[in-house]
Amino acid sequence: MMDETQAPDRIDAQPGGLALDPPARAPAAPQHPQAAGLPLRRFAKVQNVLEMRTRARKAMPRAVFDFIDGAAEQEISRRRNRSQFDNWGFVHRVGVDVSRVDMSVELFGDTYDAPFGIGPTGLAGLAWPKAETLIAQGAKAANIPFCLSTVSSVRLEEVAESAGAGLWFQLYIFRDRGLSRELVSRAKKAGYKALVITVDCATGGNRERDPRNDFTLPLRPTLRSAFDTLKRPGWIGRLVANGAPRPENMVEAAAKAARNAQGLVVFMSEQLDPSVTWDDVEEFVDLWDGPVIIKGVLSTEDAERAVKAGADGLILSNHGGRQLDGAVSSLHVLERVRDAVGPAPTIFCDGGFRRGADILKAKALGANVVLMGRNTLYGVGAAGRPGVDHVIHLLKTEVERALVLLGVPRVSDLTRDHLMDMSRLPPAPAKAD
Ligand SMILES: Cc1cc2nc3c(=O)[nH]c(=O)nc-3n(C[C@H](O)[C@H](O)[C@H](O)COP(=O)(O)O)c2cc1C
Repeated sequence: MMDETQAPDRIDAQPGGLALDPPARAPAAPQHPQAAGLPLRRFAKVQNVLEMRTRARKAMPRAVFDFIDGAAEQEISRRRNRSQFDNWGFVHRVGVDVSRVDMSVELFGDTYDAPFGIGPTGLAGLAWPKAETLIAQGAKAANIPFCLSTVSSVRLEEVAESAGAGLWFQLYIFRDRGLSRELVSRAKKAGYKALVITVDCATGGNRERDPRNDFTLPLRPTLRSAFDTLKRPGWIGRLVANGAPRPENMVEAAAKAARNAQGLVVFMSEQLDPSVTWDDVEEFVDLWDGPVIIKGVLSTEDAERAVKAGADGLILSNHGGRQLDGAVSSLHVLERVRDAVGPAPTIFCDGGFRRGADILKAKALGANVVLMGRNTLYGVGAAGRPGVDHVIHLLKTEVERALVLLGVPRVSDLTRDHLMDMSRLPPAPAKAD
């Protein structure tokens, strides 16, 4: 398995272009969004998401990169999120006309151009000012779903205004239920289409990289972190020009609770409520007129309960390994959850998807769509909006190429027969030659 730290460093093709062995006969890769503007050369050494991660690591202070990249405790779930794909090998088909491939998916009455979307990530403004807006705009331009976090660093109304209708809004059911209800009605008014209720945050995960790096919210430099940060003048300049990011949707509520800026983030974490039950979830499902998706489910019982509560969709997720360390990954449970809930509910998977081939494995095992958290954070942190566009472009190109090589003209035609369970076979050697 290629670890996230072992991205290949040999670059000899155009970004997202096709390797020349054998001679390319695949359909033209999706047009790069920057093709008409900034030179593609800017990303010549960013051939995949893992290389964008390396760029992001260089561009951001270590504490900020680790806040995004890190996970809970020993990061077992985070690592499993990457190794889960090794359990499945592709069995390609030949003799099929794949001169045109269709990557589109239908979700809640909308057609999207690729079988993946962008999941909610709080305080993305740490990576780049107004990151949520930039990512939402990039998703819109690529016609893929985007979900805004409750704890976004841009107000939900502003993101909706600048990225257009049809976005999804993620909700935490806070201790202050009135605050959560108010967020729901604001999201409705702002034109969000789907409500994503996250249920795996009864308390915060124990992310040990953060205290190790003296990372605090709001940001407070220490001697050690200041030294590291000074090596990133671009990041500092943007922070000085735009101010420190904060959970903008909660500013008024925190003020009412007599919290100053310092207390805002504490207020946010105090709002996580370990007493939330399915009755509470049901109440919030009933508040929403459009599709509701429950995020953070892993067991078949919870999946069935979520459907009974009125959910139209489920996100199988261990929160990117950031909550319960040791929690299984989405592909480990996907088939049994699909068997339990049947074909009707929309099933999303997230956690560790960095390649087009990863996405297709989830599709073949019964997922409708894959969501990703860190990928576009790496992109935006490395280069702002062009970084977002490039990440989405790379993934679309990889999905398309993999479909061609799999001999599958429509992504919806992928089935379990295109995969073989490799879990009992010896793992691929870490290094081929
Ligand atoms: C920096 C960061 C912030 C996140 N914030 C939220 C959040 O506010 N709400 C939420 O439901 N999930 C949040 N998540 C989890 C993601 O939605 C998603 O489950 C996870 O990132 C998927 O794993 P991946 O990053 O490997 O794609 C966050 C993840 C990261 C990395």
